[in-house]
Amino acid sequence: MTGYDVADPALAEQGARRVVWAERAMPVLGLLRERFAKELPLAGRTVAACMHVTPETAALVRVLTTGGAQVHLAASNPLSTQDDVAAALAAEGVGVFARHGVTRDEYVGHLRAVLSARPHLLLDDGCDLVDLLHATPALRKGVLAGVEETTTGVLRLRQMAADGALKLPMVAVNDTAVQRLVANRHGTGQSTVDAVLRATGALLAGTTVVIAGYGPCGVGIAERARGLGARVVVTEIDPGRALEAVLDGHEVTTMAEAVPRGDVFITATGNRDVLRAEHFAAMKDGAVLANAGHFDVEIDVRALATESVQVHRRVRPHVDEHLMTDGRRLLLVAEGRLVNLAAAEGHPASVMDVSFAVQALTLEWLTTRSLKPGVHDVPAEIDAEVARTKLAALGVALESLTPEQQRYLSSWRP
Ligand code: ADE
Repeated sequence: MTGYDVADPALAEQGARRVVWAERAMPVLGLLRERFAKELPLAGRTVAACMHVTPETAALVRVLTTGGAQVHLAASNPLSTQDDVAAALAAEGVGVFARHGVTRDEYVGHLRAVLSARPHLLLDDGCDLVDLLHATPALRKGVLAGVEETTTGVLRLRQMAADGALKLPMVAVNDTAVQRLVANRHGTGQSTVDAVLRATGALLAGTTVVIAGYGPCGVGIAERARGLGARVVVTEIDPGRALEAVLDGHEVTTMAEAVPRGDVFITATGNRDVLRAEHFAAMKDGAVLANAGHFDVEIDVRALATESVQVHRRVRPHVDEHLMTDGRRLLLVAEGRLVNLAAAEGHPASVMDVSFAVQALTLEWLTTRSLKPGVHDVPAEIDAEVARTKLAALGVALESLTPEQQRYLSSWRP
């Protein structure tokens, strides 16, 4: 068996049951697994992954191992790790390095552990594996390419590429149409609101929910919050996205203007200090603060702690009350970490079915290519194939073009 570091191997059976439950909502991955079992497209390949250790990730890992890969998995966030799932994967021979709540040093140790398996391919979620490979070039030997899952990770990769610093080919799974629609909009939209509700037990109807960032994630959160009866206020820096929010019927304004009115604040920008000291000073008593972005930088938690008299009074699981010097109480959910995975279960399995099918197919594609260092797009055929297979699994039929329509579309003559 491969080495591993999990909290409690005895949780394996419970974890395995939850993985099977997730697999029931992942038909696209199920079909891929059947094909991979016959064709073994990843035979002889070692994959290092840094991902949230959830039942859905376990379903992906099973597809990859069925396809012949040896997989080594580290957690991409200490608070999202589900210890029973980690135990289940370890029991199946996967090199899992993930325990809920590990320290920063342990976290980095886990990344090093998966990289020391000398991977050929990477699955990254937030760019931490890639960062470490660039900080320790010796570990990069033999790494052919990788895929990146998140908006934040792709942003970092593009910055590295622009500086000429990226030494590996990385494929931007986040930028596919299906990922933006299914994972960012519907996955983050539902699971973020779900997490805030689970953590606080609040009624959203009649409240003002301030959403920072109107990318696909912000769009999804706004839709769901409005669906539950909230008034949505959006803050944006991008004129096109701000216009989209206005045309979607939301109020758009600055954070300074929104702050005294908001009951719930949700950040989804990928940037730092979106909520900061000047905003905390003007918020209502009882305001709820949550972050949907990948890293815990969007809410300036350090400034919040500095401004408050009493920190970390945990009033409910995942909710810390910060008592401000003037008596107001601000409620920080999940320590400002990505709330959908830290205070709930992340995207539903049906959503991850799509994201992870794109990732598995892209890894397969990478075994047949030799790409230059840089950020690459997922081939359009993979995007379309996953959408088509998901629709078929949902029992949805597609219209097809008549020969005349095909001719009409492919000719410039009237
Ligand atoms: N990212 C968002 N939701 C997730 C999930 N359920 N599993 C793995 N990664 C995720």
